[in-house]
Amino acid sequence: MTDFKRIRTEPLHPLFAARIHGVDIKGGVDDATFAEIEAAFDEYSVVVFPNQKLDDADLIAFSERFGPLETMLKGFNAKSDSYLAYIGNVDPKTDTIIRTDDPRMQRQYSNELWHTDSSFKPVGAKASLLHGREVPPSGGETSFASMRAAYDALKPGQQAELESLVAEHWFVYSRSLTAKDDFLTEEQKAETPPVPQALIVENPRNGRKAIYTASHAYRILGWDMAKGREFLDALMAHATQEQFVYHHAWRPWDLVMWDNRAVQHRGNAFDYNRHRRVMVRSTVAGDAPTIATDEIARRLARLPAAAAE
Ligand SMILES: [Fe+2]
Repeated sequence: MTDFKRIRTEPLHPLFAARIHGVDIKGGVDDATFAEIEAAFDEYSVVVFPNQKLDDADLIAFSERFGPLETMLKGFNAKSDSYLAYIGNVDPKTDTIIRTDDPRMQRQYSNELWHTDSSFKPVGAKASLLHGREVPPSGGETSFASMRAAYDALKPGQQAELESLVAEHWFVYSRSLTAKDDFLTEEQKAETPPVPQALIVENPRNGRKAIYTASHAYRILGWDMAKGREFLDALMAHATQEQFVYHHAWRPWDLVMWDNRAVQHRGNAFDYNRHRRVMVRSTVAGDAPTIATDEIARRLARLPAAAAE
């Protein structure tokens, strides 16, 4: 355990996640405090900063200290091409609740699948920061599953098998799991072709390994489709067992930051037509792909012929 001097950490789960006290983001975070926050993020994977009354500019400025930010996919948020995504059930233009049959609520339903942000992009997100501005009185929690704990619980043989495989993640596939209609435009589909991802990733700062999968994970490269789906579904069932999960019940003005390389997350339902949920998210871009092109070729070449049957 890291010994912190400028912040105080309050663990929220036996295996990961902590609330961080002693930080006023709007008031300014000096470099020494920021270094401790980064260390806490690496250690706990999910960190909660309570009572942070931030506006959009404050959130962007703090997020950028962790690295360059992703811009959102076109058409998925009110401010297209911005660094922020609006999440919840309130239309930012009219400040009214979006009805459940409105196609824009599809995003909310998709967020209720276990996932890791942006794993459908060639370089998945490093971190996400979600700011709760209005939260429903019940429901609407965000659940996090520790992919380090899920990795540690595997037998060595299973860990080795995962290290040898490559999954393909595809946004169009994961959206098809919840969409009633084909609501993606051709432009959005063209923007998100399938991408390869390693099934195990390692944090270079502390050497901790984690399972890297998500509802975006579509198939195992080089495997028969049905066999790959069965494998990925079983892996998801293992990885999201309750003992690996922390459920965050939101308080207004919580800022929650998570490591997409170390946890999966999902939103929980709430009474959509009755209560307001207003959240704003920024996303810190990843540094590099989870697997190099030549390593994909090496792994595919090593697959036993039987695997493809
Ligand atoms: Fe997400």
